[in-house]
Amino acid sequence: MSAIQENISLKPYTTFGVEARTRYFASFESIEDLKKLLADKTCSGMRKLILGGGSNVLFTDDFDGLVIHNKIKGLKILQDSDESISIRVGAGENWDDLVAYTVDQGWGGLENLSYIPGNVGASPIQNIGAYGTEVKESIHYVQTLNPETLTPVTYSKSDCRFGYRDSIFKRQLKDKRIITHVAFTLLKKPKFNLDYGILNETVRQKGRVNLKTVRESVIEIRKSKLPEPEEIGNAGSFFKNPIVDSKHYKKLKSAYPDVPSYTLANKRHKIPAGWMIDKLGWKGYREGDAGVHSKQALVLVNYGNATGRQIYGLSQKIRESVKSEFGIDLEYEVNVI
Ligand code: FAD
Ligand code: EPU
Repeated sequence: MSAIQENISLKPYTTFGVEARTRYFASFESIEDLKKLLADKTCSGMRKLILGGGSNVLFTDDFDGLVIHNKIKGLKILQDSDESISIRVGAGENWDDLVAYTVDQGWGGLENLSYIPGNVGASPIQNIGAYGTEVKESIHYVQTLNPETLTPVTYSKSDCRFGYRDSIFKRQLKDKRIITHVAFTLLKKPKFNLDYGILNETVRQKGRVNLKTVRESVIEIRKSKLPEPEEIGNAGSFFKNPIVDSKHYKKLKSAYPDVPSYTLANKRHKIPAGWMIDKLGWKGYREGDAGVHSKQALVLVNYGNATGRQIYGLSQKIRESVKSEFGIDLEYEVNVI
């Protein structure tokens, strides 16, 4: 466990790169370290926040508590057969390093989730997803620590109540469990998911469908649309794509015949928030150093010195304009703190 440090800037620890300070900061590399940290009197009774890669958070103010940086590493094989392999991975491992490793080994399941920033420990929290795949499909179990009782609690896939950008860790268990390890079951004979149009086209152009060409294609597509956090601060999609009922969808479709949508079960429709924000003319908009990305309207950006409050303020204006034009309340995907 690192010593508890005081008055630390969080700017280098988040991909938005906004200035915010935390009263206390510490990191841990094992469950034992974490327990010691949580039992330390210096921060008892204070608010505590776990940080992984900081790629899905926006600090709008200084943090009056303890920020705990998860650095638990390691990969252990739990089961290995001709069909599948189960592995348990430390929450502090980098997500894309894990994906690259599994692709190199020929283990299928995570390839469509290539190049998503952040750490393994955060992946179940919002059930990360991209190009038709969600991490829930490969999750075996999630191992956590209860920070109040310091006891371990393990959740099976069904316990996690995964949904679109959703899980029990964002709801009933929000801030009540610290994820220490995630176990995945991956396939030795991969089943490729190329339902997403542009992914299918890009992979076919490569002439061969295998884990490597799928990974390369996902990375190419992502690089063409999404800003690199090292170059322009951002946290990926700022809002979730809203889900509307068929009545609302019909109304939208008659006003906007070009509205894109994905049909879900129970006659519900997912509408791309980026399309709505783009339609309202926000794409490329800039207010000081806070802005809307010029290639993807769902991504808010920090051109350098924007504050968390300026970015949050811009997000509120966007929400209001979407509400007034489309009658839809956008939900935040980013964790605004
Ligand atoms: P952090 O930002 O550090 O934390 C996110 C939340 O989880 C916080 O509330 C934090 O307190 C909590 N948390 C983190 N670790 C733990 C833990 N071990 N235990 C308990 N709580 C914890 N997401 C997608 O789903 N799909 C995408 O395609 C995608 N693309 C992105 C593209 C870009 C350019 C960027 C910047 C982000 C993108 N994201 C995407 C969002 C982000 O990468 C994911 O949400 C990622 O899982 C966040 O991981 P992190 O380690 O950075 O989490
Ligand atoms: N669109 C526009 N204008 C824009 C952006 C999008 O018209 O500025 C339209 C596109 O033309 C397309 C539709 O909206 O018809 C969807 O766009 P895209 O394929 O880029 O995906 P998205 O719905 O905006 C979602 C995820 C991403 C994920 C991609 C790929 C959410 C909130 N976002 O974005 O996840 O990478 O699909 O699967 O579900 C993230 O969560 O941070 C993230 C980046």
